[in-house]
Amino acid sequence: MIPFNKPVHLGTELSAMAEAILKNGHVAGGGPFGKRCEAMLEQMLGLRTLLVTSCTHALEMAALLLEVGPGDEFIVPSYTFVSTANAFALRGAKPVFADVDAHGNLDLAHVEKLLNPRTKAVLVVHYAGNSCDMEALLKLCGDVPVVEDAAQALAASFDGKPLGTFGVCSAFSFHETKNIGCGEGGALTLRDPNLIDRAEYIRDKGTNRRKFQNGIVDKYTWVDIGSSYVLSDLNAAYLSTQLEALPRIQARRKQIYSAYEEALTEPVERMGGYIVKGSPRISGNQHLFAIVFRSPEHRTGYIAHMRKHDIITPFHYVALHQSPMGQKFHDGSSLPVSERLTGCLVRLPLYFNMTDAERDEVIGRTQEFLRAL
Ligand SMILES: Cc1ncc(COP(=O)(O)O)c(C=O)c1O
Repeated sequence: MIPFNKPVHLGTELSAMAEAILKNGHVAGGGPFGKRCEAMLEQMLGLRTLLVTSCTHALEMAALLLEVGPGDEFIVPSYTFVSTANAFALRGAKPVFADVDAHGNLDLAHVEKLLNPRTKAVLVVHYAGNSCDMEALLKLCGDVPVVEDAAQALAASFDGKPLGTFGVCSAFSFHETKNIGCGEGGALTLRDPNLIDRAEYIRDKGTNRRKFQNGIVDKYTWVDIGSSYVLSDLNAAYLSTQLEALPRIQARRKQIYSAYEEALTEPVERMGGYIVKGSPRISGNQHLFAIVFRSPEHRTGYIAHMRKHDIITPFHYVALHQSPMGQKFHDGSSLPVSERLTGCLVRLPLYFNMTDAERDEVIGRTQEFLRAL
């Protein structure tokens, strides 16, 4: 069986976790490994970054920081994971769904039509570790804050600037399906320095505990609303090994991705489909390799063909404006590209520990299917 994903396994994760337990005696949040991970992320991104329990929680923190509430609207792509919309809907705000381009990133012409005085924020998702034209998006939004859902975008950049550093704040994921992970985990990056203190309170149950730990105040107390969003040092220990190995992990993903691209672009295009990719201004992170077929029937046939050969090739997402919850907010209009990707996109297995034989089997079986179409 070739699964769609296997969590990265370097072999060093367990000893780091043992160090957290046995040497540091600190496994709750805010310990030495958490600090080390934050320092590495801050080095990469150049911005204050808080380690949190998931990307979903980082997005919830963004909604709290922006004081989003009932009566507000936020623009969000329909073609995304539920958390992008849910984190803001949870505060009582209304999602307004924008369509995406053929490669799954925000359609800026549509965003322009949707912006209005009730728009409290625009959420941009960097699908597959690519992005829309971030410069144009920021210009279009003017004073309306842009929040980046960079769940899939660590180590990717637009015009040489890391994704996750454009918006007022950004959310990353370290879920096991991401390029690096720790089971469940995430990070919130803050470009606006005025948000840092509040973000730390919100992460730590509404307390100024971090200031207490840093010797800035002599006791800690309740100072704001908040919840429990800090990542445990056990998870941070696991994550630290993968952050340190990021260049090696990225290099292997790139090898697999390039082999897929080289072998499959021509036969996919010959059958009227295409491979999801970023514009030349993007340096991608090979987060996922996705094919968009000409029709849903081709996709269904492909998934069944691969399944017959024990290879798992899942699709995603159900466009949010068509989901049972999304329909409650949406006006019923069609968002044609999101709907087309919902019906025609499929993802190929791609993970760090994939063997060359597995990679070649995926390529061979895909070519076999395309030849027979
Ligand atoms: C675009 C996007 N946003 C948010 C998330 C949620 O991430 P997490 O599982 O870390 O909460 C994901 C995870 O798959 C995602 O792909």
